[in-house]
Amino acid sequence: MRMVDVIQKKRDGEELTKEEIEFFVNGYTDGSIPDYQASAFLMAIYFQKMTTEEQGYLTLAMAESGDQIDLSAIEGVKVDKHSTGGVGDTTTLILAPLVAACGVPVAKMSGRGLGHTGGTLDKLEAIEGFHVEISTEQFIEQVNDLKIAVIGQSGNLTPADKKLYALRDVTATVDSIPLIASSIMSKKLAAGADAIVLDVKTGAGAFMKTLEDSKQLADAMVAIGNEVGRNTSAVISDMSQPLGLAIGNALEVKEAIETLQGNGPEDLTELCLVLGSKMLLAANKAETEEDARSQLQSVMENGEALNLFGELIRAQGGNPEVIKNPELLPQAEYQIEVPAKTSGYVSEIDADEVGVAAMLLGAGRATKEDVIDLAVGIVLQKKIGDSVKEGETLAILHTNKKNAEDSIKLLQDHISITKEKIQTPSLIHTL
Ligand code: URA
Ligand code: CA
Repeated sequence: MRMVDVIQKKRDGEELTKEEIEFFVNGYTDGSIPDYQASAFLMAIYFQKMTTEEQGYLTLAMAESGDQIDLSAIEGVKVDKHSTGGVGDTTTLILAPLVAACGVPVAKMSGRGLGHTGGTLDKLEAIEGFHVEISTEQFIEQVNDLKIAVIGQSGNLTPADKKLYALRDVTATVDSIPLIASSIMSKKLAAGADAIVLDVKTGAGAFMKTLEDSKQLADAMVAIGNEVGRNTSAVISDMSQPLGLAIGNALEVKEAIETLQGNGPEDLTELCLVLGSKMLLAANKAETEEDARSQLQSVMENGEALNLFGELIRAQGGNPEVIKNPELLPQAEYQIEVPAKTSGYVSEIDADEVGVAAMLLGAGRATKEDVIDLAVGIVLQKKIGDSVKEGETLAILHTNKKNAEDSIKLLQDHISITKEKIQTPSLIHTL
């Protein structure tokens, strides 16, 4: 087989075979296919797109390019959740204990954040002593014992995707639905899930800014998942403003604890119930959405979900007392209130810019080498639709720097206030 023929076939809009797609993925991963041919091929895909079958082959070939986690020693249906990312998205910390408390095994492989705030691993490491460097054997044993464990992402997960993503980044081929969908799904497959629930974000703070694009991405991922034999479903959720109120690692752990106690922000709580219901259905632990929801609500109300979060923390070396006393989490030295400059209604909270404001305080990494300040971040006091008076607090900065003028200015510039009353954006969009 010659790569030039495969490129030409895709360029001309023909459908590729499994062998042709595997030839490309394997050859590019082992270095026998050069960047210039891979670049031309990616651009051909960008314009000609791919059928669901082709996307399935591409996803599987990338999933098989490196380590694959075998979760077959864990009893039950292993359901994974994936979010396409947003600002202050604390859902994993809440969902994992919530669905595990309903009997669904949660074998969670998580990454660190490169972006405005930390990833799930960074957030968990805000709990003193918590460690995620456990062996695969320990990981599996812990899921069988406790129903829940979190492990750091293996260094050799989907090397084909890593290499291709880097190339896409410099060849203007990132924003191709078949390429994004297969990239995300390849990592989920390699992480061993039997079933996958996707949270596709939409809006200003999301990777996909429009509902139309978000729907297309959700459809493509659901089709791939089902094509390769994993029960896959998706929710499209709003990221036109940050989710919940807290943005920052320790602050989000505290918010997760409050949500597990049933005292969390409304939007964050609702999204966790919606995603959790889909996970229970996929795991055959519930017959209907209502049944699933009432199971989730009951483990929230009776404290079982929060206790399980404590068990997870204990099992992985952290201090479980934080669930009773979140003050044990790292605390920033200063709290600075950000006042509104005018009166009216909050009409927009640019999630990306709020993320940048948090990053400037030290809550996220600008480069891979940066060290995160786990204590710092932002707690919003207002969300879209809330009324606000001049001088009233829009947000509280938690910071270890006395001077946080640049973050204050970003928030004041990007939390818009209008005179007319504004409707709260809907949290969940139907597929
Ligand atoms: N996230 C991914 O993992 N892959 C993409 O291609 C885009 C976003
Ligand atoms: Ca949050």
